[in-house]
Amino acid sequence: MEIRLEKGPVKSVKDDVLAVLLFEAQELPKEFSGLLVSMKKERFSGKVGERYVVTTQGKEQFERLLLIGMGAEKDAGMDSLRKAAATVVRYCDGNKLKTATVMKPKIKSINDMETVQALTEGASLSSFAFDDFKTKREDIFHMESLTVLGNCTEAEQEGLAKGFNLAGAQNFARKLQELPANMFGPEQGAKEAEKLAKEKGLSIKVFRKQELIKMGMNGILAVNQGSVKEPCLVKLEYNADKKNLPLYAIVGKGVCFDSGGISIKPSKGMEEMKYDKTGALAVMGILMAARNLELPVRLIGLMPFVENMPSGSAQRPGDILKMYNGKTVEVNNTDAEGRLILADALAFAAEQKPKAILDLATLTGAMIIILGKIGSGYFTQDDSLSKALEVASAKTGEKIWRLPMWPEFFEVNKGTYADIRNVTNTGEAGSSTAACFLKEFVGDVPWVHIDIAGTDMASEMPPHPYLGRGAAAPGVRLVIAALEELAKK
Ligand code: BES
Ligand code: ZN
Ligand code: ZN
Repeated sequence: MEIRLEKGPVKSVKDDVLAVLLFEAQELPKEFSGLLVSMKKERFSGKVGERYVVTTQGKEQFERLLLIGMGAEKDAGMDSLRKAAATVVRYCDGNKLKTATVMKPKIKSINDMETVQALTEGASLSSFAFDDFKTKREDIFHMESLTVLGNCTEAEQEGLAKGFNLAGAQNFARKLQELPANMFGPEQGAKEAEKLAKEKGLSIKVFRKQELIKMGMNGILAVNQGSVKEPCLVKLEYNADKKNLPLYAIVGKGVCFDSGGISIKPSKGMEEMKYDKTGALAVMGILMAARNLELPVRLIGLMPFVENMPSGSAQRPGDILKMYNGKTVEVNNTDAEGRLILADALAFAAEQKPKAILDLATLTGAMIIILGKIGSGYFTQDDSLSKALEVASAKTGEKIWRLPMWPEFFEVNKGTYADIRNVTNTGEAGSSTAACFLKEFVGDVPWVHIDIAGTDMASEMPPHPYLGRGAAAPGVRLVIAALEELAKK
């Protein structure tokens, strides 16, 4: 879908739909009072989620006027605009209407750039669909263009470009997320990163099996050992040669399919384990967006791609591994594989001496028990990283919640035969103990782990207001906003 910016007058709009966003108690637009004379007051009061449609019966050049309730103005922000733009897209898609114009509203708490950025993000993210494999196309309809009616100022243009780039990077990751394991394995991870590197002028190095063996990346190798596919570790760099810029490492879990391995998962819902590569794909999206937005930082993106399968060659419960940083791990459950591949990637990241490491991983089912599919849990011992993330969360609408890394959680990770174990005996506080496991591999580098096991995809109940259901690629906009915040210092 194309998203454009144009300048008034509203009377000259010729699209199928003209959408007007209204706060509670805000007066109806005077230009259209003729169209709205028969509207009963109780039909529309501007509450969040309210919608009112009138057809113009030839009185205007557009076909329908769509009023969208925005709630109280004091509560409105960028996320209200993302949701409103998504309402327009859903309305048009549902009614087979090709084009719409949205009048740019004025919200006191945000500026013109942010307003257009948020509308663009909402429209672009809500227009995402993964229906390429449906051969019956009759019922599939996607609107063609959405225009924001503003003043075409520089700030608005900038907002459009920023929203377009951020949503574009997130949608790029969402598309790959949806690819099932017969179409996307570790090799496709490397290929997609290589393609991105070429298109965007990023530096890339793919460590394949033989190199991983030489390096002693035994966590990555062991998890992949039951698969007929080969693992890889992708290192993608932005601004690699600009050594004066602050360096951040972004690491993502790339399990292309998590069957659980020998500690096999129940079959119900196992198909959703194609989403276990979400963290790595978010990293790709982050590098893409950072490049497009020319963020003043240097980034190393690390993506260990594997497939966790049971077979005669698979690792077994009880196996002991010597990881890349020399620590030993007892693998008591082959389904706790994410922390094993991240351990090697994080230790490698720490060696690069970045200012901080951020990781994104669909790490623990316990996360869904804690925060459902509404927000991601994050873990850090660094308050300034936490602050940057909280600011980023408020801006992007990506909900996060800080969870503890208490000393007791390190205690229960201690191994019987090796230094540490990959699962605790009780399984209690599974998300926190997993985070404390990862901490063993980052040394002294400030680090934050974001567990996106609940937010990787939205289900039916409830669908996300602008991401709908399915792949959500959480963390792309969040981490970019956090990096912008960190780069200010
Ligand atoms: N990929 C899963 C976590 C997950 C579960 C993500 C559900 C999204 C939805 C992870 O590898 C896993 O299986 N974790 C185990 C760990 C346990 C064995 C300690 C879990 O959470 O059950
Ligand atoms: Zn698992
Ligand atoms: Zn997993």
